[in-house]
Amino acid sequence: MNPTLQLTINGERREIALDDPRVTLLDLLRERLDLTGTKKGCDRGQCGACTVLVDGKRVNSCLALAISLDGAEITTIEGLAVNGALHPVQAAFIAHDGFQCGYCTPGQIMSAVGLILEGQAGDDPERVREGMSGNLCRCGAYAGIAEAVIEAQR
Ligand code: FES
Repeated sequence: MNPTLQLTINGERREIALDDPRVTLLDLLRERLDLTGTKKGCDRGQCGACTVLVDGKRVNSCLALAISLDGAEITTIEGLAVNGALHPVQAAFIAHDGFQCGYCTPGQIMSAVGLILEGQAGDDPERVREGMSGNLCRCGAYAGIAEAVIEAQR
């Protein structure tokens, strides 16, 4: 019999029968639940493109087995905007050009939201960059990202 998970995803309670107990949270979100805003980059915990919040903490979803998260609350990039209004972090990324190609942006934004929730953002760009160091941007938009995080946490 397939194991069944209870998850709250973007505020909605879901009961999910797992076909494969080895599935990662990333693949569950993208392949089963069509939440493709969460991106797959390295698939080995090195790029941060797959960052989501699990019970309010930043997690690389490519490293998390879905089966280990029974009862957890998951927030993905799709869950940030409320009634069409952008989350302040999303708005700040736009205002400060915190992206170029955009592939890493969902992970960057989720990581920024987590950093702010942890109270670790601060006003110092170097400190913000350190706090966001698990999220790589191949376009090098780091200056705009740090500015956006600083504005959003004010
Ligand atoms: Fe998960 Fe790169 S895809 S850290």
